[in-house]
Amino acid sequence: MARFLVTAGPTREAIDPVRYLSNRSSGKMGYAICDALIASGHQVVLVSGPTSLTAPASVEFVAVESALEMLDACQQHWSRCDAMFAVAAVSDYRPASTHEQKMKRVEDSLSLELVANPDIVKLLAADKGQRLVIGFALESENGLQHARGKMVSKNLDFVCLNTPQAQGADVSELTLISDTAQWLLGPCSKPSLATKLVEAILENSNV
Ligand code: C5P
Repeated sequence: MARFLVTAGPTREAIDPVRYLSNRSSGKMGYAICDALIASGHQVVLVSGPTSLTAPASVEFVAVESALEMLDACQQHWSRCDAMFAVAAVSDYRPASTHEQKMKRVEDSLSLELVANPDIVKLLAADKGQRLVIGFALESENGLQHARGKMVSKNLDFVCLNTPQAQGADVSELTLISDTAQWLLGPCSKPSLATKLVEAILENSNV
C-alpha cells in the first residue's frame, strides 16, 4: 500500500475580494483518480482547488484556493508520500498584487500585471528520488511532442496527454506516456478512465 499525493481542480488567483482568474477545470478526473487509488487499496492526500465535487470519504482532504496555497499544502505533505498525481489545472499566472478593496470600474481599458506561478509538480519532482510522479498535459496541437517535452523538463515518470475537450466533460480519453511506451485509454467515462489509468500505472511501475 502506498500513499499518493493528488492535486486536482482549478486554482483561483485573486484580483480583489470579489474577482479572480481561473479556468474551466471541474476536478472530475482528479477526484476519479482518488476513487480508483482508494479502490486499489492505496491511501490518498487530496489537495484540491475549488470544485463542486464531494471529496471521497477516505481521503485526507486539503482545500486550497490559489497556486501558492496549493504549493504550500503539497510541500507539507510530499515528504510522507510515495507518489504524486498532478492533475490540477494550476493557473499559469496570478495578479502581481491583490487589491484589498473591490476595484472601481474604469471607463476605458484596464491593464492587469500578471506574474508566473511556481510549477508545483516540477518543484516536487526535482527531489523525488525513487518516488513516482505522474503529470497531465492538456495540449491542442503536437500533443505527443509537447507531452514528452514536459515529461523530461518536469522530471516525470508518466504523462497523461489529453485535449481541451476533456475539461469538464463526462466522457474522455487520454494517451498515457512513459519514456519507453504509450497506451491509448478510453474513450469512456472519467471513473472508468481513472480505473484504467491507475491499473496501467500500477502494472508498469514499482508502486
Ligand atoms: O500547465 P502544464 O501543461 O505545464 O501542466 C502540466 C502538468 O504540470 C500537470 O500535471 C499540472 O498539474 C502540473 N502543473 C503544476 N503547477 C503548475 C503548472 C502545471 O503542478 N504551475
